[in-house]
Amino acid sequence: MSLSIHIDIETCTRCRKCVRICPAEIFIQETPKSDVETQHISSCIHCGHCVGVCPTSSIVHSDFPAEKIHPIHPEKFPTSEQLLLLIKSRRSNRAFSAKPVPAEKLDLILEAAHRAPTGTNAQNVSFTLVTDPEKIQQVIGFTIDIFMELGKKLSNPFLKPILKLIVPDAYAYLPHLEALRRKYEMGQDPILRKATALLLIHTPKKSQLGCQDANLAYQNGSLMAESLGISQFYTGFLCIAMQQDKKNRIPNFLGIEGKVHAGMGLGVPSIHFENYIDRKEIDVRKL
Ligand SMILES: Cc1cc2nc3c(=O)[nH]c(=O)nc-3n(C[C@H](O)[C@H](O)[C@H](O)COP(=O)(O)O)c2cc1C
Repeated sequence: MSLSIHIDIETCTRCRKCVRICPAEIFIQETPKSDVETQHISSCIHCGHCVGVCPTSSIVHSDFPAEKIHPIHPEKFPTSEQLLLLIKSRRSNRAFSAKPVPAEKLDLILEAAHRAPTGTNAQNVSFTLVTDPEKIQQVIGFTIDIFMELGKKLSNPFLKPILKLIVPDAYAYLPHLEALRRKYEMGQDPILRKATALLLIHTPKKSQLGCQDANLAYQNGSLMAESLGISQFYTGFLCIAMQQDKKNRIPNFLGIEGKVHAGMGLGVPSIHFENYIDRKEIDVRKL
């Protein structure tokens, strides 16, 4: 559908809110009494700020028909104290039960993640939600394989002198890689911690701010999970394995075309935190 933006000058109150809010400067008004007009609408980033601020619904934007516009009721927001309490109480609880996460809770976590802002409002963050236990096992198996291959490479006596120069930090991980394999062979799950759902967050490969976009989505999703009583943790090992794997085994196996930037292991908690704990002192400079 081609983009169109019209202003109903009959109902427009000339309040200039659209002129002031639009990041692409599409709305112009020459004098306070003159009609608001549009210019270079092709530079619209489809953020919907114009229809969001208009008090008289006078902006008709082809992307935002009436059913996509919803009134905001600030009195229904959680208070800042409630929000901060949720943020403080969110932990990476890896003590999962075997119960599956109810589908409606997963959908709310997805919706919250999808609502996160994206650079230039690109909105090209995609999600792959894996709940099939066999697929989850495969992902864990691939991750261990990738780490074992990495360990072999790092230990190779011919490559070691060069790799120590190029990736000195990787050698700090070498003992951990071996420990992961041992735990895996003993039937433990050091990668996904027996999570019953895995949410991978990805963007097209060339997306410039894809990593930032995906991780903002992650954090929205994780707070929603906490509010629903669902546990989550960031699957950093899995992300590192995917970064290292030239064969792209995990995304290929799951049919993901883009680049995975973040992963969330999810499950119903088997134990709950009674207390939240203070972080280190904040390191902040106020200039
Ligand atoms: C980027 C990142 C990667 C992480 N990777 C893992 C991981 O692979 N496995 C794991 O069990 N926890 C992982 N975590 C969870 C951290 O260990 C956890 O956030 C940290 O210990 C603080 O605990 P909290 O989340 O309960 O506040 C990761 C967290 C972040 C932010």
